[in-house]
Amino acid sequence: MSSTPPEPTDRKVTTHALRRMKEAGQKIAALTAYDQVMAGLLDEAGVDVILVGDSVATVVQGLDTTVNVTMDHMLYHASMVTRGVSRALVVGDLPFMSYQVNTDTALMNAGRMGKEANVEAGKMEGGSSICPTVERLVEVGIPVMGHLGLTPQSIHKFGTYRVRATEPEEAEELRRDALALQEAGAFALVLEKIPSGLGEEIARSLEIPVIGIGAGGGCDGQILVSHDMLGLYTRFHPRFVRRYAEVADVMRGAFEGYVRDVRSDEFPSNDESY
Ligand code: KIV
Repeated sequence: MSSTPPEPTDRKVTTHALRRMKEAGQKIAALTAYDQVMAGLLDEAGVDVILVGDSVATVVQGLDTTVNVTMDHMLYHASMVTRGVSRALVVGDLPFMSYQVNTDTALMNAGRMGKEANVEAGKMEGGSSICPTVERLVEVGIPVMGHLGLTPQSIHKFGTYRVRATEPEEAEELRRDALALQEAGAFALVLEKIPSGLGEEIARSLEIPVIGIGAGGGCDGQILVSHDMLGLYTRFHPRFVRRYAEVADVMRGAFEGYVRDVRSDEFPSNDESY
């Protein structure tokens, strides 16, 4: 007999609430935001986790990779996002080289995200090698979300955005890293662009929620980059992105209409003038 998962409540989403959602079989809906307006709309729509992703690099800043995003960029965007949110858990991506140098640097940067931008948790890419840092952050009270599979900050190492962990050895390493992150105290894990069977297996084997992006429907929740699912960022369209709107077309139409109206003296009308 299939049971109906409980409806989401208006209560503030916490790391503990996400764990309870997993236990209750209630799927977690996560999306990215980079400013207050978008974050407010996501929050009103009932999104559980809002990630201030370093994907801001590609979908907002016009960069080719996430490698160039700085701590200052992330603090700027994260502080706008937290001003727009009251219910969702806000997680801030720690940008490339803000946590890899050593644990003290990671501690300082993750602390800045909390103190200066009010995010409630930090996300870091990587497996066993970052576990000592994850442990230390959790020890001082900073919740950490892990990120395995396709890790865009390492694009120059891999040279490609292809599906990860398709070979048994890489899949085994992923299983080990996922468990290591849980044992280090991560409260949740993002799995990006891996075979759906492996995504489901890891979600079932871990106690912490596993949030997939291109990791199949067997994960405990899903995340997409908002600009991708809105059809606002259209430079590429990976298979795992479902487009819920064609916002770029709507905006283009509005801008063209405005230009037309200004040039033809249709705007402003008397009603729009003083
Ligand atoms: O930066 C980002 O938006 C992310 C998601 C794709 C998970 O890390």
